[in-house]
Amino acid sequence: MPNDVFYGSDRNQTLSYLEFGGIDLAAGKKVVWDLKLHQKAYDWYMCSRYANDLIAYRTMQARLPQADFAALLKIYFDEIHHQNDFSVTLAKCAALSACRASAPGRTISFCELGQTLFGCIDAMAFCRDVLARLEIPCPLPDLRDVRWIGVDISEFFNHLSELLHPDYRLKTCTEWNSRPGDADIFFAKGVTLLYAVRHIDQLSDYLRHAKIGLFDYSFSLGPEREVMIGSGKVIRYLSLAKSLESLRNLPNRLWVKIKDSRPDNQNNTLYVDCLYADLETGPAFMEYDRSIRSALLQRLSGLSGADLFLDSQDGKNSGWLPMPEFVEGLSL
Ligand SMILES: C[S@@+](CC[C@H](N)C(=O)[O-])C[C@H]1O[C@@H](n2cnc3c(N)ncnc32)[C@H](O)[C@@H]1O
Repeated sequence: MPNDVFYGSDRNQTLSYLEFGGIDLAAGKKVVWDLKLHQKAYDWYMCSRYANDLIAYRTMQARLPQADFAALLKIYFDEIHHQNDFSVTLAKCAALSACRASAPGRTISFCELGQTLFGCIDAMAFCRDVLARLEIPCPLPDLRDVRWIGVDISEFFNHLSELLHPDYRLKTCTEWNSRPGDADIFFAKGVTLLYAVRHIDQLSDYLRHAKIGLFDYSFSLGPEREVMIGSGKVIRYLSLAKSLESLRNLPNRLWVKIKDSRPDNQNNTLYVDCLYADLETGPAFMEYDRSIRSALLQRLSGLSGADLFLDSQDGKNSGWLPMPEFVEGLSL
């Protein structure tokens, strides 16, 4: 693996670095043991972070039959990097359920852009067992029957995703156009899209090839602009005004989650948590998402931290609006 590769950007005025070392507190001396740059720095840091999440999910799943939920939530909040990860996982499970219910017996496929280690599979396996233990009905397919497609710019992550999931039907590639066919569900984290999407047509293309698209994104409220973030990579905020036309021309509907989507005045951006689907699948997804969350909230009520675990504080994760209506209502 080359150590000097700039990737995801044609600019080379920025770089990622990862420094490892020790500090002798008595001598007041810092020693650098190793320094990695560029792709290797990014991949080694993110590998540890996402491997930690993956192991935490497998640990929680293994302890689920005996442990009480307070003990599981302690592992969750100590180990999982993004506090809303379980909530994002619930949405993925609702999407798989909606696809399965609409076509019983058919193989469902799930594509993530920027899957890293494909730890979302382990998160979903834990989620499925939580629902089963709490006797919450949900028509999730057997995750070993799902076709998983990962499109990540990092060959290192693609190899590891496959090595870590030998029991799953999983294929990875580095280029969107090399993926093995379309998938029912398209998922991407906002930061991955900010790295990868250089033009709105690219995002439209990802969505056109899926039955359900789940993603978050931040648009610039001014002109399009690029900025380097702490990972050393350059992200691009596309202009909202220029993107709306393309998004309106998509064949299916784009909704945003009302309470989670909002302008960020400091950054002059609009954050949106989105669902893309047709008029049958979209409402079916919303109903699974709503009913699973409300059953979980009911079963876990009284447990400290349950609202954070389910990301349901102040009515978050409820209520959707078509994106054009949402944007008009903001009077930007
Ligand atoms: C923050 S991580 C992904 C998050 C993770 N899958 C999750 O659900 O939290 C960003 C991922 O996007 C990948 N990536 C960066 N630029 C990309 C690009 N242009 N195309 C595809 N993947 C990219 C990185 O290698 C990394 O695996």
